[in-house]
Amino acid sequence: MKERIPFNDSWLYKPSFTSADPCGTTDTAEYSRVDLPHTNKILPYNCFDEAECQFISSYKKLFRVSKNWEGKTVLLEFEGVMAACDVWCNGIHVGGHEGGFTPFQVDLTAAVRFGEENVLTVKVDSTERKDIPPFGNVVDYLTYGGIYREVWLTAADPVFLSRIFLDCPDPLEEEKTLHCSCEITARQTCESTVTVTLFSPQGEKIGEQTETLSLGQGCGKYRITLSHLQKIALWDPDHPNLYTAEAEMRAGDNRDICTERFGFRSARFTPEGFFLNGKRVKLIGLNRHQSWPYAGYAMPRRVQRKDAQLLKEELGCNMVRTSHYPQSRHFLDACDEMGLLVMEEIPGWQHIGEEAWKERSLKELEEMIVRDYNRPSIVLWGVRINESQDDHGFYTRTNALAHSLDPGRQTGGTRYIQRSELLEDVYTYNDFTHDGGEEVFRPQQETTGLESPVPLLVTESNGHMYPTKRFDQEQRLTEHALRHLRVINESLGREDLAGGISWCAFDYHTHSSFGSGDKICYHGVFDMFRNPKYAAYAYASQKNPAMQIVMEPVTAASRGEKDGGGMVPFYIMTNCDFVRVYKNGKQVADFYPQKEDFPYLPHPPVMVIHLMEADVISGFSGEDRQQFQEYLDKRMREGTLTGLRQEDLEYLAKLAHKYGLDVKGLVTTVIKSAGGWGDIANNLVLEGFWDGRAVCRREIGEGKYAAGITAKPDDTVLYAGGETYDATRITVEAIDNRGNLMPFIQECVEVKLEGPVSLIGPARFPLTGGISSFWIRTAGETGSVRISVEGMTGRTECALEVELAVPLT
Ligand code: GAL
Repeated sequence: MKERIPFNDSWLYKPSFTSADPCGTTDTAEYSRVDLPHTNKILPYNCFDEAECQFISSYKKLFRVSKNWEGKTVLLEFEGVMAACDVWCNGIHVGGHEGGFTPFQVDLTAAVRFGEENVLTVKVDSTERKDIPPFGNVVDYLTYGGIYREVWLTAADPVFLSRIFLDCPDPLEEEKTLHCSCEITARQTCESTVTVTLFSPQGEKIGEQTETLSLGQGCGKYRITLSHLQKIALWDPDHPNLYTAEAEMRAGDNRDICTERFGFRSARFTPEGFFLNGKRVKLIGLNRHQSWPYAGYAMPRRVQRKDAQLLKEELGCNMVRTSHYPQSRHFLDACDEMGLLVMEEIPGWQHIGEEAWKERSLKELEEMIVRDYNRPSIVLWGVRINESQDDHGFYTRTNALAHSLDPGRQTGGTRYIQRSELLEDVYTYNDFTHDGGEEVFRPQQETTGLESPVPLLVTESNGHMYPTKRFDQEQRLTEHALRHLRVINESLGREDLAGGISWCAFDYHTHSSFGSGDKICYHGVFDMFRNPKYAAYAYASQKNPAMQIVMEPVTAASRGEKDGGGMVPFYIMTNCDFVRVYKNGKQVADFYPQKEDFPYLPHPPVMVIHLMEADVISGFSGEDRQQFQEYLDKRMREGTLTGLRQEDLEYLAKLAHKYGLDVKGLVTTVIKSAGGWGDIANNLVLEGFWDGRAVCRREIGEGKYAAGITAKPDDTVLYAGGETYDATRITVEAIDNRGNLMPFIQECVEVKLEGPVSLIGPARFPLTGGISSFWIRTAGETGSVRISVEGMTGRTECALEVELAVPLT
C-alpha cells in the first residue's frame, strides 16, 4: 500500500547556490531552518526592487526512510517550485523541473539509502529565465521564488495506482454513468483486480464495480465503468455536491487505493450564453492573483481557501479566473466545495517565446489538466497565453492537446485583440472599452469579426482603466465601484454574453513597468490584505437579501471630502428595497435603487441625493411635494446646490409665496439640503428596509472621532501538526465612536504575540486608511495565543487557540 507523507517541515535554506552544494554532505552551517510553503525572500509591502527575489537558492533536507521501504518506488512530489529546479539525493542528480506553477515528481528509488540518513538538495532558480513561461518579455505580475507549495514523499509498491480520472458522459441523464480511468504503474506485466466505489456527499455507497485487468509493464490507463447510478445530485454553485470515488487495486501482494472527489454536472458555453446542467447561468466574477504582502505566493491551505470564500460568500461571485497560471490546489479545492466556477489557464503574459518555450508551455498545459481534471468547478481551460497575438500553429496544438486530454471540457484563451483567430470553443476577450462613459462592452461582431455569433465571455474589464487605492478620495472610490456595477449590469443584460469576469479581486505586486511606481497594481476590489474597497460592495450588494442583507454607504460622510464640498449625493450599495435617511434625528426621505441607470442589476445602488428634512415640505400639496422632490433630485444630479441659478430662485420664491414661507429661509434650507457649508455637523442614520421591514441600521456622519482600534482574527482555532503549518489573518481597524472605520487614520501599530505562533511579515506597520492586516502562522506546538496590538489610537487584544490537527477531509 502506498504511503504518502507530508514533507514540509524542517527544511534548510540558503539564499545562494554553489556547485559544491549538491554533494551528499550533511554540513548545513550556512543554512537556516524553514518550513514549506516557503518564499525565498520576505519582501517589504511595496517599493522594493523586484530583482530582490530573482536569484538562485538552495534547499536541503536531511531525512531517513524506513528499512521497510526497501524494494518500493520512492517518489518526491513537488506541488510548485518557482521557477526551475534541480534535485539531488545523496549527491546523485535525480531530476528537476522547469515552470513554477505546476506539480512534478522525481524518483529517488535508485539514490535513497534505506534505514539511513539521506541528504536531499534542491537548487531553485527563481530568476526570470527567458526560456520559461511567463518570462521572455515584460509581465504584469511578480512570481517571487522558492519552494512555495507543499512537497510529499511517497513509497509505492512495485504495482501502484498513481491517479484516477473521472468522467460522466451525460450528467443530465436520469441514470448516470461514471468512467474511472485508473493510471497504474507496474514493474512487469501482471494480473490485477480493481474495484471502484462511489460514495455520496453523505458517505453512502452509491455504486461499485470490480474488474480483472491484465497490466502491461510501465504506466498504463485502464477504464472501469459504473453504470445505472441513480439519485445522483448534480453539482452547481448553490449545491456543490461532491461525490467521492475510491479505486482499490490488488495485484499479488500489492494493494493501493486512490481517492478523488467528483461533481456530476454539465457545463456548456454556447452563442446563447453559458449553460450549467442545462440551465442558463450568467457568469459574474473577478480575476485572482495568488499573491500576498510579504510572503509572495507562499501561503498555506487556510489562507488560500480564504480567497475562495471572499469571492463566493462575501462577494457572491460565481466565477473566478486564475489569472494567469494554475493556482494552488487548496484554492481550487475550496472552489469545488463552495461552488465557485473557474477558468484556469496556462502561465503567460502577452509574450510567446521560441520553440522550446512553446514546448514548455504545452507541457504546463498537460500538467495543469492532469492535476485538475476531476474538479467540477473548472468549466473552461485557458489554452492561450493571456493577451498574446494569434499564433495559428501554437494554438492549434494547445487546443488539440487540451481536447485530447480532456474531451469533456471546452477551451478558451484570453485575447485583447479584436478579430483574433478563433481556434478555441469560446471567444474569451478582455474588453476594456468602459472608461466611465456610456459604452461598456463592444458589440460581439466588432470583437470577433465573425459573421455568426459564437460563445463569448468577457475575461477582463476595468483594472488599469481606473486604478484605485483603498485610501483614495471618496469620488474616485465611488466611480471605481460604479464602473464595476456598470460592467456587471452589462454582463447580465447582454444576451450574447456568457458573463463578465472583471479585473480584479486583489491588488497585486508587479514589475517596474506596471502599477503605481511602488510595485503594486491597485486594480483589486480588495487591497492586498484582502480588505474591501467600495467596489467590493458593488458585488456583495447583488446577493439575495434573503440570504444576507448588505447596506454599505459609499462615503466618508463628511462635507469637505468631495470636490466642491457637500455631503450628498452619495451612494449606498445595498440589496434593501429602499433606505430611509434621518439627519440629526429628523427624517429626511426614503431613497430607492437607481433602476433606470442599472436596469439589469438585481440590486442597483441607492443614491442619497439630498438631506432636506421631510417636515420642511410636509405642508405642501401632494403635487407640489412631488415637483419639489423632482426639482431637488434634478438639481443635485447636476451638481451640488451651492450656486443657485436665477430660475431656481424664481421657482423657490413662488413656492415660498404660495405657502407663506420666508423666501430666504427656503433658499437657505435648500442649499443646506446638500449638506454643504454653513450648517451644523450632520449626523445621519440609514435604515434599510426589505420586505416591508427595517432590517438594518447604520449611523454615519460628521460628529466622529477616533475611539479605538479593533483586532479581528479570521479564525479562532488553528491546527498544528497537519500537512504543514497553519496560518490566519488578523485585521486591525481604527474605529470611530460609532464603530465605523476611520478612513483617514495613518498610524503605526505594533503587534505582540504570546504563544506557539509567529508573524509572517513585520511586527510594526501602518494602518493605511484606517485599516491593515497581518498573518500569523503556527510553529508546530499547540497552546493558547494572545495577540496584542497597540497604536496611538488605542490598544486591543484578541486570542485564539492552536490545537492538534484533525485529519483533513
Ligand atoms: C490586462 C492583463 C492583466 C492586467 C490588466 C490590468 O491587459 O491581462 O494581466 O495587466 O490588464 O488592467
